[in-house]
Amino acid sequence: MNVDAGAVVNHLYRALASGYNPALRTFVSVSNVEMGQGAASLDHLISPHGSRLVDLVVDQDRAAEIRDQSRDWLSVDLGPRQLCDLELLINGGYSPLDGYLGSADHQRVCSEMRLTDGVFWPIPVVLNIPDELADTLVAGDSVALRDGEGVAIAALNVEDCYQRDLDAEVEAIFGTTDASHVGVAQYMHRTRRWAVAGRVEALQLPVHFDYPELRRTPADLRRLFSSRGWRQVLTFQTHRTIHRAQQAMMVEAAREADANILIHPVVGLDQPGDADHYTRIRCYQAVLREFPESTVCLNLLPLTLRGGGGREALLHAIVNKNYGSTHLMVDFDGSGTVLETLGEPSYKQEEAAQIISEHDADLGVEMVATCEPVFLEDRKKFVAATDGPPDGQVLRLAGDEVRQRLDDGLEIPSWYTFDEVARELEHRHPARRAQGFTVFFSGLSGSGKSTVANVLRVKLLEIGGRGVTLLDGDLVRANLSSELGFSKEHRDLNIRRIGFVASEITRAGGVAICAPIAPYDVVRREVRELVQPCGGFVLVHVATPLEVCEARDRKGMYAKARAGIIKEFTGISDPYEVPEDADVVIDTSDLAPVAATREVLLYLARQGYISALDVE
Ligand code: PPS
Repeated sequence: MNVDAGAVVNHLYRALASGYNPALRTFVSVSNVEMGQGAASLDHLISPHGSRLVDLVVDQDRAAEIRDQSRDWLSVDLGPRQLCDLELLINGGYSPLDGYLGSADHQRVCSEMRLTDGVFWPIPVVLNIPDELADTLVAGDSVALRDGEGVAIAALNVEDCYQRDLDAEVEAIFGTTDASHVGVAQYMHRTRRWAVAGRVEALQLPVHFDYPELRRTPADLRRLFSSRGWRQVLTFQTHRTIHRAQQAMMVEAAREADANILIHPVVGLDQPGDADHYTRIRCYQAVLREFPESTVCLNLLPLTLRGGGGREALLHAIVNKNYGSTHLMVDFDGSGTVLETLGEPSYKQEEAAQIISEHDADLGVEMVATCEPVFLEDRKKFVAATDGPPDGQVLRLAGDEVRQRLDDGLEIPSWYTFDEVARELEHRHPARRAQGFTVFFSGLSGSGKSTVANVLRVKLLEIGGRGVTLLDGDLVRANLSSELGFSKEHRDLNIRRIGFVASEITRAGGVAICAPIAPYDVVRREVRELVQPCGGFVLVHVATPLEVCEARDRKGMYAKARAGIIKEFTGISDPYEVPEDADVVIDTSDLAPVAATREVLLYLARQGYISALDVE
């Protein structure tokens, strides 16, 4: 197979242009052999990488033996990324690897993209360990690999502990060691020099309580494909929601390749507690219902992105091949870049197509390009943006425009997505009128924070529709942070606690009004970042000058602070960092509490959290 990236793109564009009719829901005739036909053998499926599909789960007797012996072993507690690697080792996604690479394999993979036995392998799969552990381990030892809850997942039979040449590894993966490269910086940050090599014997797969039925192993999927008589399988690997355009793209590509479709969302770093995780998967399930029955399969891929350039694309090709794919289509963002969950670019589409085509003989998987689709309303179909008529005649909607429509409570148009997906997104991301929010007051003692916060609470209760919780500084100090003093460390901890509670209230659709001094900028920003994904966040700087606060001195604390009786007093003997990111600034020197509150209410109305009619 020799992939010409340009030809692939062209063929896809042609295919896209060939038609899509949402009304008919029958725009593809992918082979649809019913269950049972062709189920006898897996031979017709693509061969696993290295011709061997690995399953590292041991039998019950050996598992009992390992459980028994492991009580005396040292343990390695794996983080979420490491657990993904382990899962792909155990379930055969990384076939033919049966453990973590040793030093010789590591070197050859870095320099030549081959294991010492000659098998093509693009990125080292290694287990980082702390220096102290490396000092104690010797070949022949066994180590228990545990998940975040301490559950033993596997035994690692130690063959080697070695120091990696991290510069060589980073240079090989990223083509640079320049720490200003975001991928390099991240990789260096989470990678340790010492690695332990050895074969893995698994007691079980890592535990997932969410969607177990969608977490099929490569062997499970291959059996399923075989029972359905599938031969060619086109994987659509994605980390985003799928809408009509992506469906049209994958369907046409599948038709060109005479393949069935595997929708393979990357779920490695998703936390089960994260609401997005569930929304995303419910959306995929809804999309599945838009395909003719049994022509498409949805499976969750326990992969995390490494930010590793073209070599990462090769690893994706190998993993998907092990799951039975013959064609790989990766969902790229508008710039043609695969994004890491945290937003760092992983690799570019052209880079992936180029490097996969160069290693065609080693892989046997074809990369299928995606494009930026636009919708032709009069013809009711998507075409590649580059092939479409001028801008004014096509419909397009970028991701942030979708988010804006959701914020504004506007419908997502039906040409763009499926009704069920739209409902899911609307439910997950209600219009601002229905979202929870936090109003975070910050200012000196005596600045008027508590008074305005109290008036705001009353006004919002009058407006109704949401529960309102007031987390006043004194209240929090009495109930949540009673053991804390006023050092920077303690103040930051206090604010983090307030931020956490506020984020949970916001997530649940309520209003949290916080009114601590919160003198430090960094931790205020931390709170904003914590709350914002859950709903709204408004920072109100109560900028009443120190002289006014001190003249008021309702609690007599300024006098005591001036006399040195109270230490570390904000504004007198402790700093207050003026917020530069305040959304609202009020000075209560000459502003009555109700008028000050009105400023905040007006801002909330402008942002759409309350109706302008509610502000007198
Ligand atoms: S912080 O910095 O945000 O953690 O402070 P906060 O939790 O809002 O607590 C401030 C209230 O505690 C009283 N108090 C002090 N404030 C500042 N510095 C020192 N050293 C201090 N000691 C006690 C003070 O009454 C603050 O209440 P408010 O309502 O702001 O006047």
